[in-house]
Amino acid sequence: MPTIVYTAAAATPKGVELLAVPVPSDRIGQDLAVPDGLLATGRRGGGRRRSGDPVAVPWSHLERTGFTAKAGEVALLPSAVGGDGEAGAATIAYVGVGPADAVTTAVLRKAAGSLGRAARKFSSVAVGLLAVAPEGIDDAEALGAVVEGVALGAYAYTAQRSKAPDDRLASVVVVGSPLAAKPATAVIARAEAVVAGVALARDLVNEPGGSLTPAAFAERARAVAAEADGVAVTVHDEAAIEALGLGGLVAVNRGSTLPARFVELSYTPAKVKRGTAAVALVGKGITYDSGGLSLKSHEGLTTMKCDMAGAAAVLGAFSAMAAAGVAVPVKGYLPLTDNMPGGDATRVGDVIRHVDGSTTEVLNTDAEGRLVLADALAVATGKAAVKGGRKPKAVDAPAAVVDLATLTGAAIVALGAKIAAVLGNDEAWITQVRAAADRAGEPLWPLPLRDEERPLLDSKVADRKNIGNRHGGALTAGLFLRDFVADGVPWAHLDIAGPAFNEGSDDGEVPTGGTGYGVRTLLALLSTFEAPPPADP
Ligand code: BES
Ligand code: ZN
Ligand code: ZN
Repeated sequence: MPTIVYTAAAATPKGVELLAVPVPSDRIGQDLAVPDGLLATGRRGGGRRRSGDPVAVPWSHLERTGFTAKAGEVALLPSAVGGDGEAGAATIAYVGVGPADAVTTAVLRKAAGSLGRAARKFSSVAVGLLAVAPEGIDDAEALGAVVEGVALGAYAYTAQRSKAPDDRLASVVVVGSPLAAKPATAVIARAEAVVAGVALARDLVNEPGGSLTPAAFAERARAVAAEADGVAVTVHDEAAIEALGLGGLVAVNRGSTLPARFVELSYTPAKVKRGTAAVALVGKGITYDSGGLSLKSHEGLTTMKCDMAGAAAVLGAFSAMAAAGVAVPVKGYLPLTDNMPGGDATRVGDVIRHVDGSTTEVLNTDAEGRLVLADALAVATGKAAVKGGRKPKAVDAPAAVVDLATLTGAAIVALGAKIAAVLGNDEAWITQVRAAADRAGEPLWPLPLRDEERPLLDSKVADRKNIGNRHGGALTAGLFLRDFVADGVPWAHLDIAGPAFNEGSDDGEVPTGGTGYGVRTLLALLSTFEAPPPADP
């Protein structure tokens, strides 16, 4: 990740290779001036120009590149082109921001993301995007969005290439924020932590399933605990999983030669009132989803390394909690296994017993996420029953719980590939989660959970079956999970099947491949957490 520097002076520091200036689409057709404040302080040559004159660039030069000033469009031009002097850098990045009166933090983040991607071939960039931040915008949020955007856009997954591409971006200088140096430094430090958390989640999602095994994922969790302040980890191996009675995790793991893991994380803030209830996070951790005996189509198999994106988002968030200033205790639960069709795989029609003692008839082994999440939610919310006279690791009821899961193709059918679905049992908690997602710039939209649909999960032989009928698959998956949330615990379920993995091309701060969706929302949520009143039983 590049170093982020902030300068209160609104001038491009000397020696920067790339200077980024924002272009609102209202300016289409007009010759552009590099704002005077962004010019180099120590101009060389071009003596004709009096200091204070803007450097004009004829619109035709930009037009020739196909530039239309849409938010997230970037055109690179040598700074001498058409200008009557030098700007502060050899190259200027003209960054579209769309209509001037529609610039928001989300637009700034997106524009900065495209800029960050374009800036990878330069060693340093001065970012003047805040020049178009509208009045009334929160200065800290605007600065945070620009820093996050540039650093997230500069991300590239290169671990599997024999020769790393020559990305050079080492330093980002943000100019033109009205914030004083001290609060600006704090905003930047937080943004850097968030970006590192997102990058970790992206790396995990991008790593192929044959390489990021459950045991390897658990080792990454240990590494996070070793590095991040306030984080502790417990890794349960196969024997412990069996002893705990996590029947869903055992059932999904049966077709695999790789042992499952169950990871528990805990974050304790530096200062916390004793007895403060924790927020619980649960992440689906299917390191590869073949569908099991209900084998996926070849097409369906191609992206299924992404099926641990929920667990990756939770781990990414843990890695950044202290640096992001999270002041509430947090617990994390990651059921990790792949879903394979091996010789002793769970059969279609098998009945399994979960940690809370209830039973599920498995009528489709590809609906495996809910099976492993069921146990994890029961443990996380304190619903897990006594098994063999032994209580599975005692937990105090959490103040609230969020789970993240690449759970259903139906969520993609409903909302498209860029918007996650949120379902849950508590309106106030869902509202809080949605507000956090909005601030973080991650699209999230509600779907309903109604008792009326619950009979779709009725089984002829067990307490429930693991699929509904052909329709409303995201809802029946949510209703399945609801069975495992202890009464009175506010719960929000994020179905991130679409936005966790970008099968399309780079889009602003969101790259192709693993996106790290959820890390930003979780950190925004936890940094402003307010305990919702307990849900109705
Ligand atoms: N991991 C998939 C869901 C998924 C699909 C994630 C596409 C990302 C992209 C999940 O385990 C699954 O296969 N769900 C089934 C459920 C069905 C069998 C009831 C689905 O959505 O088809
Ligand atoms: Zn599946
Ligand atoms: Zn799955």
